[in-house]
Amino acid sequence: MFDINNKLKFIKENNLYREIRYLSMPQDKVTIIDGRRVLLMSSNNYLGLCNHHKVKQAAIDAIKEYGLGSGGSRLTTGSYDLHKKLEKKIAKFKGCEAALIFNTGYMANVGVISAICNEDYYIFSDELNHASIIDGCRLSKGKVIVYKHNDIKDLEDKVKAINPKKGIIVTDSVFSMDGDIANIPEIIRIGKENNLLTMVDEAHATGVIGNNGKGSSEYFSCDVDITVGTLSKAIGSEGGFVCGNKEIIDYLKNKARSFIFSTALSPAVINGAIASFDVLKNDNSLVRKLQSNVSYLCKGLRNIGFDINSESPIIPIIIGEEDKAVEFSNRLLEEGIYIPAIRYPTVKKGKARLRMTVMATHSYEDIDFVIQKINEIKKYIKL
Ligand SMILES: Cc1ncc(COP(=O)(O)O)c(C=O)c1O
Repeated sequence: MFDINNKLKFIKENNLYREIRYLSMPQDKVTIIDGRRVLLMSSNNYLGLCNHHKVKQAAIDAIKEYGLGSGGSRLTTGSYDLHKKLEKKIAKFKGCEAALIFNTGYMANVGVISAICNEDYYIFSDELNHASIIDGCRLSKGKVIVYKHNDIKDLEDKVKAINPKKGIIVTDSVFSMDGDIANIPEIIRIGKENNLLTMVDEAHATGVIGNNGKGSSEYFSCDVDITVGTLSKAIGSEGGFVCGNKEIIDYLKNKARSFIFSTALSPAVINGAIASFDVLKNDNSLVRKLQSNVSYLCKGLRNIGFDINSESPIIPIIIGEEDKAVEFSNRLLEEGIYIPAIRYPTVKKGKARLRMTVMATHSYEDIDFVIQKINEIKKYIKL
């Protein structure tokens, strides 16, 4: 069949072959993957909300009241009062005038960038931005200028060299594979000085950074023009969202193709997300516990020789060669710890890593166990 078999062979020979692993328990700190009980150190369910009793109950209540599927796209019959309620909550949480729910964070990025930008636009994009931003840029047909990762000087030089009439700067706020945080205040400054829109993807920042988990606006006390996020990570549900002023949101409802041409999210996941935001509104203890676990894990890793300092729960151990990363991950699995090896094309070739994440539900004892096992295994792998 064409050259698919050769392509598959190439992927396997280069240690880039991926296989799906199946969970048979809730996504929590201890789960069952492919029949094996493991300590999960790679989930984006950072606050444990996807298995929170209030969140689950809200989803059950919504199914009882509304049924399961939404039955239509957002602009036909698929929008429920619950969608409107969640959009209001998200806008308030993020301190924006309005919000719009998309079916995934991926669809939000693709939809927003392709709706706003066209051939006349310059898009300044961080080299480590998420694939959904990259795909949105490609789809928009805008002129994409990639700047060095979180390098404000490189960004400013590139903006000044082009001096575009129309443009946007787009960045992840917490980078998904590195866990570092973009210099958003400087990005806003460059945007204002050069009359460019600014957009951040808060997929890994929402519920995570800032005292109350509100994301980069709380962390830095400053606001971009367009905020994109997902409900599928710390919020523990599913879906994506965009926040901005009323005009932007109104425009996206009319123009973002990934919003228009897809069946709306089920009332159950929407009501679950509403419950998650209520949990966050009333109590920041989960966010505080997450942040304290991040510090504890980083300190432990430094004690065993890794130069690691993260403010987000994404804590990668860079291994480099793909085969070594896979071996490290497999050995951890034998010890009952699940941390997948992340390889090309998710990260650059030769930058394979263990993408470790910590959750608010982990205890310090869990973290001590992980550090001990990493320390033991690293001696065999020869980093
Ligand atoms: C930075 C970033 N943006 C967007 C997404 C897409 O979000 P979703 O999983 O809701 O499609 C992800 C991860 O999946 C991500 O890491």
